[in-house]
Amino acid sequence: MKTSLTSSFLLSLFLFFSNGLLLAQPKKQPVKNSTEQAGLWKDTDGHFINAHGGGILQHKGIYYWFGEIKKGKTWLVPGQSWECYRVPAGGISCYSSKDLNAWKYEGVVLSATTNNRRSDLDTSNVIERPKVVYNQKTGQFVLWMHIDHKDYSYAHAGVAVSDKPTGPYRYLGSLKPNGHDSRDMTLFQDDDGKAYLIHASENNNTMHINLLSDDYLRPTNRYVRILEGKRREAPALVKQAGKYYLITSDCTGWNPNPASVAVADSPLGKWATQANPCVGPNAETTFRSQSTYILPLDPKRGKFLFMADRWNKTNLEDSRYVWLPLDIKAGKVTIPWQANKL
Ligand code: DGJ
Repeated sequence: MKTSLTSSFLLSLFLFFSNGLLLAQPKKQPVKNSTEQAGLWKDTDGHFINAHGGGILQHKGIYYWFGEIKKGKTWLVPGQSWECYRVPAGGISCYSSKDLNAWKYEGVVLSATTNNRRSDLDTSNVIERPKVVYNQKTGQFVLWMHIDHKDYSYAHAGVAVSDKPTGPYRYLGSLKPNGHDSRDMTLFQDDDGKAYLIHASENNNTMHINLLSDDYLRPTNRYVRILEGKRREAPALVKQAGKYYLITSDCTGWNPNPASVAVADSPLGKWATQANPCVGPNAETTFRSQSTYILPLDPKRGKFLFMADRWNKTNLEDSRYVWLPLDIKAGKVTIPWQANKL
């Protein structure tokens, strides 16, 4: 997932904020600041982008943004000890872009189903946090995601494959990695071709990092338990100058909370916790959002894009996206707030 963005593009990248939405835009593009558009990010067809809990794959100079489709009425699952707000699982969407600004809708790459309530992909279930990596050896695009029942009691990781980045993806099934429950998750592909599944486990108490098989389709038995008992979720992992950085959120349902960083010399190594990387107003709530992915822009210079979700728990379809610069300098991660340009 290396980037080929030129430094001039990086210089021109700036952030525009409006009513709960931040988006990265090259300077030459017009700022979308009309009142109709304020706060809502539209694709190139003029429809609102629906790609929550998402991640980006860069392949052959194109960015592919995969995310959860949240559509329909939000409801509260009865009998839970927490605010278990839900929308019907809508499947996984994909958008493509050459500049991280203009996003073309590529369609539903993995559909939810309505004809079999026992299927993992039934709309009554949870399909969250999709992430895609390309496997050079098999030539397949591999999509992992969180699969759950409406009360989050199933706690599986699901996997699907496609020959094309834009799908359709063929669902292969779900599992508990090494027998452990799996909720919020992400993928990380290293420079050596190894890929890792990082997931909240042990009832969200402890994060696990699993080395995936060479074809990326199953976890191997090599995994580490990290941030033990710290109750972290929403993992997003990057590498910079030989070190690995994992951003996570606290575990507070749909409500925002402080992010934290952990750093290690290898994904299966020892992880040490650093402080909240966010700087500026609302830093203590990750700017009222929750991490989902970190996209390398110019990793040698420590430049990344931090992607997060600003959930609207009582109307999940109306959740927004927060994209901010993430800098790594001398082993320290910062996510500075960017005021809007309006
Ligand atoms: C926080 C997680 O990060 C989200 O992906 C989602 O699972 C919500 N919890 C559910 O409350």
